[in-house]
Amino acid sequence: MRKTKIIIDKAYRVAPVDDRVFGSFIEHLGRAVYGGIYEPGHPSADGDGFRKDVLALVKELGVPIIRYPGGNFVSNFFWEDSVGPLESRNKRLDLAWRTLEPNTFGLDEFARWTKKADAAIMMAVNLGTRGTADACNLLEYCNHPSGTKYSDMRIGHGIKEPYNIKLWCLGNEMDGPWQLGRKTMEEYGRISAETAKAMKLIDPGIELVSCGSSFKDMPTFPQWEAVTLDENYDYVDYLSLHQYYGNEKNDTADYLAQSDDMEEFIHTVVAVCDYVKAKKRSRKTMYLSFDEWNVWFHSKAQEEDITRNHPWQTGPHLLEDHYTFEDALMVGLMLITLLNHADRVKIACLAQLVNVIAPIMTEEGGVWRQTIYYPFLHASLYGRGTVLKTVTDTGTHETSCHGEITDVVNAVVYNEENSELTIFAVNRNLSEAQELTVDVRSFGELCVLEKLVLVNGDLKAENSLTEEKVRPEADTDVSLEGGILRTVLKEASWNVIRLRLADA
Ligand code: AHR
Repeated sequence: MRKTKIIIDKAYRVAPVDDRVFGSFIEHLGRAVYGGIYEPGHPSADGDGFRKDVLALVKELGVPIIRYPGGNFVSNFFWEDSVGPLESRNKRLDLAWRTLEPNTFGLDEFARWTKKADAAIMMAVNLGTRGTADACNLLEYCNHPSGTKYSDMRIGHGIKEPYNIKLWCLGNEMDGPWQLGRKTMEEYGRISAETAKAMKLIDPGIELVSCGSSFKDMPTFPQWEAVTLDENYDYVDYLSLHQYYGNEKNDTADYLAQSDDMEEFIHTVVAVCDYVKAKKRSRKTMYLSFDEWNVWFHSKAQEEDITRNHPWQTGPHLLEDHYTFEDALMVGLMLITLLNHADRVKIACLAQLVNVIAPIMTEEGGVWRQTIYYPFLHASLYGRGTVLKTVTDTGTHETSCHGEITDVVNAVVYNEENSELTIFAVNRNLSEAQELTVDVRSFGELCVLEKLVLVNGDLKAENSLTEEKVRPEADTDVSLEGGILRTVLKEASWNVIRLRLADA
């Protein structure tokens, strides 16, 4: 068996975790809204048509903030069509996903739904086919108390109190050729700066996210970041990152090495932000919003088929990846990477939440948890606190494209309020287990609360409505003596070790 040693010291801190890194995303796409969170007539629907079974799982995940309404959808979104009396709402063509948008669920319904889900809204504005004026009108509708055209329109719709949405995205993936109203970096720099300036005049309390590159391999990365920030640095608060990974080559070792790419992506974006900061002699630090991340590759063929070969329809099966056990390991690795960058990554959205590349799936007969549900649940439940810097001594193994990579990847979160310490670790060595020792002497007396593991002999095991093949198990084989914790990390496993300060 291989050996891995981790040293943790409570004095060595990265940063407090911003709860918003456990955010998620609902886009008007496929069955995320229609047939997902909203399905009037379904046996589990409440008086608003919201599926209670879905709401229960969203709450179980503890998602604190949800991005809406897109994604690519937002770049041709006419928000006024989505509010007001149902009988006067029009159907629209959604050009992003070639779908018929009935507008029976819109902004006001989403606000009501998020209240029931105990989540805040991260709202995106359309900087594709619309622009500054429209973004201002939408903000006025949402946040201005009363006495103006759009605030009174909201009140006329029966919503007296403003929504006070704090966090706003200035468009979506504006560098992408697939995006409606795509911009050059110079164009986006200008429009985002002017829109941000205007929006902060309406509500100085809001925070704004500028669009970064759509993914790391965009040809204009990282120049896009440098040029756009050069224009809007003083007006925005966060820069977005988006990245999806997949095992297209069916090479699991190399697939799991991709969390190192995510690590490098974050490093590069931080470097660009700090370069612009230095260039501008600014005292302000730009933070990151990783507002789309996940595994996405299983459903690519479905997407091609639906968006090319079918008539306009509402709520088609789109981007419905069925996740495997190895995808859960990858999601765990990505969560660990996000946590270890708590000093700069303040917001992150698992894309998405229901049915569309999602941890929660619906069927007529009920809801079910995908494999990736569990690492996200564990991180959301036990990853709140302060991330600690660890010293890790672990072996390495060879991969086809990423070369030699480390076996064990970990993040450690210290929750002083609850007197708890949690170690998240993935053993991405597929053939060898690890004898793990963790030096936690700096904490004094500790006791083991539990160790949860996700393991499965079949890397391709999936869950379904009728069978949950991948679910966490408790592992009692953990000892703690003289401040040294000992356990075994099985090959290809996600591990959550929870400790409590003994005198708490
Ligand atoms: O999350 C699915 C899509 O991925 C989003 O609409 C878009 O922003 C990204 O390309």
